[in-house]
Amino acid sequence: MGKFYITTPIYYPSDNLHIGHAYTTVAADALARYHRLRGDETYFLTGTDEHGQKIQRKAEEMGTTPQAYVDRIVKGIKELWSLLQISYDDFIRTTEKRHEERVQEIFTRLYEQGDIYKNEYEGLYCTPCETFWLERQLVDGKCPDCGREVEMVREESYFFRLSKYADRLMEYIETHPDFIQPVSRKNEMINNFLKPGLEDLCVSRTTFSWGIPVPFDPKHVVYVWLDALTNYITALGYPGDNTLMEKFWPADVHLVGKEIVRFHTIIWPILLMALGLPLPKKVFGHGWLILEGGKMSKSKGNVVDPVTLVNRYGLDAVRYYLLREVPFGSDGVYSEDALILRINTDLANDLGNLLHRSLSMIEKFNGGVVPAPGALVELDRDLIRAAEACGAKVAQHMEELTISDAVMAIMDLVGRANKYIDEAAPWALNKAGNRERLETVLYTMAEVLRLVAVLLTPFLVETPGRIWEQLGLDGKPVDAGWDQGIRWGGFPAGTKVKKGDPIFPRIEVEKEDQAAPAKTEPAQAQQAQQAKEKAVPAPQDGAAGLIAIDEFARIDLRIAKVLAAEKIEGADKLLKLQIRLGEEERQLVAGIAQYYRPEDLVGTEIVVVANLKPAKLRGVLSQGMLLAASDGEKLTLLRPEQPIKDGAKVR
Ligand code: MSP
Repeated sequence: MGKFYITTPIYYPSDNLHIGHAYTTVAADALARYHRLRGDETYFLTGTDEHGQKIQRKAEEMGTTPQAYVDRIVKGIKELWSLLQISYDDFIRTTEKRHEERVQEIFTRLYEQGDIYKNEYEGLYCTPCETFWLERQLVDGKCPDCGREVEMVREESYFFRLSKYADRLMEYIETHPDFIQPVSRKNEMINNFLKPGLEDLCVSRTTFSWGIPVPFDPKHVVYVWLDALTNYITALGYPGDNTLMEKFWPADVHLVGKEIVRFHTIIWPILLMALGLPLPKKVFGHGWLILEGGKMSKSKGNVVDPVTLVNRYGLDAVRYYLLREVPFGSDGVYSEDALILRINTDLANDLGNLLHRSLSMIEKFNGGVVPAPGALVELDRDLIRAAEACGAKVAQHMEELTISDAVMAIMDLVGRANKYIDEAAPWALNKAGNRERLETVLYTMAEVLRLVAVLLTPFLVETPGRIWEQLGLDGKPVDAGWDQGIRWGGFPAGTKVKKGDPIFPRIEVEKEDQAAPAKTEPAQAQQAQQAKEKAVPAPQDGAAGLIAIDEFARIDLRIAKVLAAEKIEGADKLLKLQIRLGEEERQLVAGIAQYYRPEDLVGTEIVVVANLKPAKLRGVLSQGMLLAASDGEKLTLLRPEQPIKDGAKVR
């Protein structure tokens, strides 16, 4: 038993997160759960990277303050992690005092020891990526990462002496083959960045204010990467409180997407060297989940929303797909069809069916009681060997972070178990009255399922417990622990099973076709529409202007409670309302002053469009729009027919 410290990147709360972000976090969660199951003292850190010009601009566009803006997005991120049952131990926000103060201390220390110095900077800057580029690094004159325009920026800045540590870093990378994984990324770092020579890094800015002030020169704010990377140690209390640092540092794995490997394997280790701290054991750069049409991004409008997917297919189906589908480290194409296929084949047919048929036979041939096994034959031994080997395979893959192979190894065991049933043919043994053999086979079926439940606990969060319960076992599979839990022979004979509903009902594709795709990419929606038009009669005249269901699904309609209402001076048609949508409060401006008195509105429920771009009406900020019906003369507000919690979604 050891310790295991794993981190995800801290996410930019510039927008709601999408399935690509969920991918990293679910993978980190599986690794953390695996190590906990093994008894390792585990610390799993995630969080948000909240400073910088991009966030400041975004908040300005939305007519709000950066802090209010990030607070809202971060709340949504935490809700997403709770929906996906991400088992993090700490969530660090770079706007928290504990982080800000420690970053200031780190900055001052590096300055005092001469590793940070002040100079003038002129360079090509990509605002969305918050990165300076050299002319030669641009692709067609544009940012090599995001392809957008760069701007020439000139300012006084503080610089961190990366160059001073370049040789030490090169030596470290070469003598620690595990440090950068997969190996292809290591070669890329050496050849593309280290060999051409490192330039000192700009670590402060004066052109925006949304950041941590440099303590001894507060017109500067600390520039993002120094602020962001240090989260991995400030969350552990560095500098100042050593308790967690001593226990968990250095990190065992920093899990990051491939585009930020560079920051984690060059800037970060050099910062740590300058601070005299040990380097992380491993930085693993995983690939991206992309769509058939290319990279997923909010600006392209083609993001896939994990909440929609979980609501539609269930949490474990989505987790399974994310962990199983793409070899960890490579890019993978996300598709909803592939997700459905995985549910129907792996989860419903193979796993679900193994459980269902095993329990049905235990019920039918032994009154629902798991019998004690008798003498073993080669067929049984063969399955037992496969089950025992499976644990070792999963362990090896989780060490190597080949997570999808670990899941595949478990599913291979499930396949072997199904084959075992076919070959052992309990129905024939029953018919022949061969009780001893039948009992051995029924026991083996139950026992392999018990092992599968334990083995699945790092990856799936609901299913292992459901299998456990249907097997009639006490407690939870995770409590069995790794060594004990996957040791063959632990099933208590005499247990009464409790067959329940199928754990993964098949997804009927015809039905799903009518539902909105979880992605909103116009091209894909169009393709789906074209495909549908082939099957459905073409729309008649007058159908022009129809919208697809997914276009409608983009409108976030919510129930809101009116907390306060007042007239707006000089605008006799407008009322200003303060409304509440669940935990969030907003202000709306509505043209209903001629129909409603402010005092009659307070305390009532209305329907609002919650994801409308904020606008100013007569100089007053309006964050949404209420719904009302009008026949030209009368106007009436739309309201729920019965009281319902504010924030409720209107579907
Ligand atoms: N804030 C920085 C990280 C600082 S870490 C000290 C950042 N944030 S991010 O929100 O833009 O991205 C966070 C992570 O999400 C990255 O590792 C990125 O690779 C990952 N992903 C974003 N889109 C993704 C996919 N489509 N697929 C897989 N991972 C994706 O970078």
